Parts: sequence; C-alpha cells; structure tokens
Amino acid sequence: MSASVTIKEIQSAEDAARKAVSSSMISPRFYTTDHDYMNKINIEPVRAEWDMMMKEYEGDNNQDHFQRDEKFAQEVQDLLPKLTPELRKEFLDFLVTSLTSEFSGCILYNEIRNKITNPDIKQLMTFMARDESRHAGFINSSLKDFGLGVNLGDLKRDKPYTYFKPKYILYATYLSEKIGYARYITIYRQLERNPDKRFHPIFRWFERWCNDEFRHGESFALILRANPSLLKGLNLLWIRFFLLAVYSTMYVRDHTRPALKMAMGLDPTQYDYEVFRVTSEISKQVFPISLDSDSPKFRKEMNHLYQVAELYYKAKEQGGLIGGIQKAWYATLGALTFVRMYLIPVNHHNLPAEIRIVPVW
Ligand SMILES: [Fe+2]
Ligand SMILES: [Fe+2]
Repeated sequence: MSASVTIKEIQSAEDAARKAVSSSMISPRFYTTDHDYMNKINIEPVRAEWDMMMKEYEGDNNQDHFQRDEKFAQEVQDLLPKLTPELRKEFLDFLVTSLTSEFSGCILYNEIRNKITNPDIKQLMTFMARDESRHAGFINSSLKDFGLGVNLGDLKRDKPYTYFKPKYILYATYLSEKIGYARYITIYRQLERNPDKRFHPIFRWFERWCNDEFRHGESFALILRANPSLLKGLNLLWIRFFLLAVYSTMYVRDHTRPALKMAMGLDPTQYDYEVFRVTSEISKQVFPISLDSDSPKFRKEMNHLYQVAELYYKAKEQGGLIGGIQKAWYATLGALTFVRMYLIPVNHHNLPAEIRIVPVW
C-alpha cells in the first residue's frame, strides 16, 4: 500500500489544535440541531426498557475506569521511543481525530440537554455527555504525553458547527456509536490475542470504553424504535444514505492510515469489513435494511472511492489552477462512485421484537 498523502504530521500543540478545528470530508464535525423536535420525542412505547437503561447509566459502571493505572506512564515511556516515524504520525492523527469525535458527542449531547425540557431526553443527554467528556479527557491526556494536548474550550469556540435535522442526528449518532463500539472491540480483541502488538497502553482501556459506546447506541435504538415512522417509507432512503456515508468515511479514513492498523497486525481492508459486518449485525435491531458489504461490486466500488480520494488529496496538495481542476474532477468521480454504491441492492430484515441486545463481540 502506498504511503498516504492525506495525513500531515502533527508537530506542535498548534498543529494538533488546527487539525481538530479543521473540517474536511472525512474529519469529525460538530453538530447542532432543532431542539423543539427533541422536546417532542416520545419514548412511552419503550418505557420499560428505557427505565432499565437509565438505571444502568445511574449505576455508572465506568466511574473509575478513565483513570490511568500505575503501569500507564511506564508503558508510555517504554513504548513511545519505539514508534516508527510513520506510525507516530498516524497514531497522533488517530488520537486527534478520536478526541475530536468524542468531544463532538460531548458538545452535542450537552447542548441538547441545556436547551430542552423533555425530561427523558434531558436525562439521557446528561449521562451521555458525562461519558463522552471522560472519553475525550482520557485521549487528551495521551496527547499531553507528546506535549500536544488540545485546549477543549478553544476547540468548542473555534470549530465550525454543522446544522443537522434531528432525524439525521438520530440515524447518524446511532450509527456512529455502534460503529465506534465495533471499531474499538475489534482492536481490543486483536491486541488481546497479540499483546506484543499493543504499542500504546490506551488500547487496554478499549473494552470497557466501547461498552459505553454500545450503551449510547442502545439508547438511540430505543428512541428510533419508539418512533417507528422513522424506520420506514422514504426514511429508508435516508437510512441507506447514512449507512453508506458512515461506512465509506471510515474506509477512506482507515486506508489513509495503513501503518496504524498494520502495527496492530490488522489489514485495513479486512479490519474495515469485519467492523462493517459487526455493525450491520447490530443495526438489525433498528434498521430493516443493511448494506451488502460482502458483495464483490460493493468492495470494488469502495476501493475505487478510496483511490479517488487519494487522487483528490494529491490534487489539493498540488494547488494552483491544474490542481483545482483535478480536484473538481476527482470530487465528481467520488460522488459518482458513491451514487453507484448507493444503488447496489440492500439486504432486508424484519425488526426483532426484543430491541435491546448485549455486546457479545
Ligand atoms: Fe465516546
Ligand atoms: Fe458514545
């Protein structure tokens, strides 16, 4: 696999802050939404499951998890000098991207909580913001080991916000929580089997960490199932769109950071398809369709999308008139590839009577 051109080396705290603030097609964004809609969400049809879930959040089984143990500093000291320059570059990019995405959840959930009166949703947002703020803080402390801590107050102020309709927030957030779980648990299991490939202690935290994400996803699953009109008719076209958007963003992002997965003994393509498989299996609890990510046509187009994205970033880097024309051309090719993938027939399922599932992966 060729070295990627899309990742700039983060050399200073300013670089880290700039990377977190910047927006691109594949970088995490900050969102705002319509709070009236959130106020009107009714979860009565799933009241029993909802109350049980709130008890789980109250029990807070990860209260003491996001603190470093005695071994952490020692491991960091032993392992960091061994990182190759390529791996160091991709790992720092991974930390900043993950921090931004955790903090994005924290900001969104906090903002909804502060602006609504709906007691159920308000309570949920309080718990989820609590969890995401722990996650973001824990990643930031690892960035600080490199002298690259990000000032989260500045990030909150400086990063642009994207408005998303509430139902898009529900689909996109459900998916990003569940795919987040699938990503972290797949890494955790791989490094559990191959501890010599654990090049940073943060990965030891991933198991209990991803259980938080799993539960966040469960909460959105309950909201969606309580409002079944969101899961049928023309809304299926939106679900299909978000599934593809989330999967293809992840594919392009992971393939532009091949060294990170290789260092864990994971092939980026195999890893991504395993994550898609787990995510599709989970999302059957709520979506009556899933993408046929095993079909050869899907895989061929996905790889094509990544190749086009690399060319797009090369043209962007080149700049000037020629670079500008090439960039527009590759953006068009990328959009057409996305449309071709969107049109690949999807799998259909009946929704299970029992909504909640347990994280068994
Ligand atoms: Fe999180
Ligand atoms: Fe989460």
